[in-house]
Amino acid sequence: MQPLAVIVLAAGQGTRMKSSTPKVLHRLAGLPLIHHVLETARSLEPEHLMVVVRHDRDTVAASVLEAAPSAVLIDQDDTPGTGRAVEQAVEALPADFTGDVVVVSADVPFLDDDDLLALLELHRSDEADATLLSAILEDPTGYGRVIRSSGRVQKIVEHKDASADERDVAEINSGTYVFTVEALRKHLPFVTAANAQNEKYLTDVVGLLTINRGHVSAKPVAEAWRVEGINDRVQLAAAARRLNDTIVTHWQREGVSILDPQTTWIDRDVSLAADVEILPGTQLKGATVVETGAIVGPDTTLVDTEVGAGAVVKRTDATLAVIGAGASVGPFAFLRPGTILGADGKIGTFVETKNSTIGEGSKVPHLSYVGDTEVGVGANIGAGTITANYDGVNKHRTVVGSHVRTGSHNVFVAPVRIGDGAYTGAGTVVRKDVPAGSLAITVAPQRTMSGWVEAKRPGTDAAKAAADAAATSETAS
Ligand code: UD1
Ligand code: MG
Repeated sequence: MQPLAVIVLAAGQGTRMKSSTPKVLHRLAGLPLIHHVLETARSLEPEHLMVVVRHDRDTVAASVLEAAPSAVLIDQDDTPGTGRAVEQAVEALPADFTGDVVVVSADVPFLDDDDLLALLELHRSDEADATLLSAILEDPTGYGRVIRSSGRVQKIVEHKDASADERDVAEINSGTYVFTVEALRKHLPFVTAANAQNEKYLTDVVGLLTINRGHVSAKPVAEAWRVEGINDRVQLAAAARRLNDTIVTHWQREGVSILDPQTTWIDRDVSLAADVEILPGTQLKGATVVETGAIVGPDTTLVDTEVGAGAVVKRTDATLAVIGAGASVGPFAFLRPGTILGADGKIGTFVETKNSTIGEGSKVPHLSYVGDTEVGVGANIGAGTITANYDGVNKHRTVVGSHVRTGSHNVFVAPVRIGDGAYTGAGTVVRKDVPAGSLAITVAPQRTMSGWVEAKRPGTDAAKAAADAAATSETAS
């Protein structure tokens, strides 16, 4: 087996993206474009994995090393063009390296492992100097065209340099190639920037090989969309749609019910069990995991969130949360990072939680804010409860024991502890710890001023209703 080097081109500016984020870091199904490509590159298990960087160098480099820690970064110099990028990478290879060099672009994210492997095998069985993956496109605008004569590849002409006849050619260069390192070492020094873009084109190596009686072959890919480059946001959105369709279909085949694929978005690293049901308008992002029998949606966004078996999560926004088996969340719940809801627990309607553990079977059913809190098992937090966790300077914790029952409209002024089995009355402002088994109430006696409405609001509907009520009770007695 020949040794192998893979060069990933990622130094371009991505001008057409019109973005302060480097093009190759725009995300597709939750991952930067370049991560998709690096994954495919790594599937070939090359001895040398090299990534050429320049624009937003440090940001791109950090992202590359995250996905491929063994990658060697090559800093492209001031000479622009894919030819220069590859030339510098080849110069960085050991002088005695004699194998094949695969070149891929960081902006072609759908390239398939199998397509790349097949290209490499073809290159080796043909004993070619260069083998390129081409594609037949209905609209080849913008791509380099593969120019053949009597069926044999002669050269590649970039769209901007192409004549009208050449522009009619539907076979395009995908930007994915295998070269022998000799072909690159020999021809790249002769590539010039005498073209419409004043760049050293890698694609010129093909024409130089032809002139020098080299052997170049091109293999059209079966599914042309797999080699479409992402150059602007229209292409990015179309690619996202396409990738999402394949992810949704994959999960449907794995036994997940997805009612409306058009409004369901699932990131690449999400994991779903069989018999999960996803309702319309749901986005599952990052490393979200949903266990069997859970129902998620409608209109729910989960980021890096775990949903246990049989849980129901309705109209909810959750990030870095853990939802236990059989638990119920929403509608209209906001689970911020660090929310851990135990099995069979509940975070109900208009409830916001953050950095809080809510134990097994415990419930926060309505209109509450629970932050920096620990709730034991089997507890019930009354409607309209607020944990006042922030004194304007520091955050403090609230600890609620097991089987506690708190009244409606409580405020827990943290730091504060409510012992196991304790109760609080409606409207309690809990400023002091409540021992286990006690009842805490805030005593603010109710004053009732009889006849106040008739005296102060005469003639109003309220006064009339009061008078009618008085008349009715007189008749009754
Ligand atoms: C390139 C090909 C074209 C092909 C198309 C497929 C050339 C000259 N043209 O055109 O034949 O049809 O890809 O998508 O190669 N890059 C560098 N350094 C540079 C310039 C670019 O590393 O100096 C990188 C970019 O970051 C990108 C890749 O090379 O990942 C391709 O560059 P891009 O500018 O997108 O080339 P295209 O015009 O798309
Ligand atoms: Mg491109």
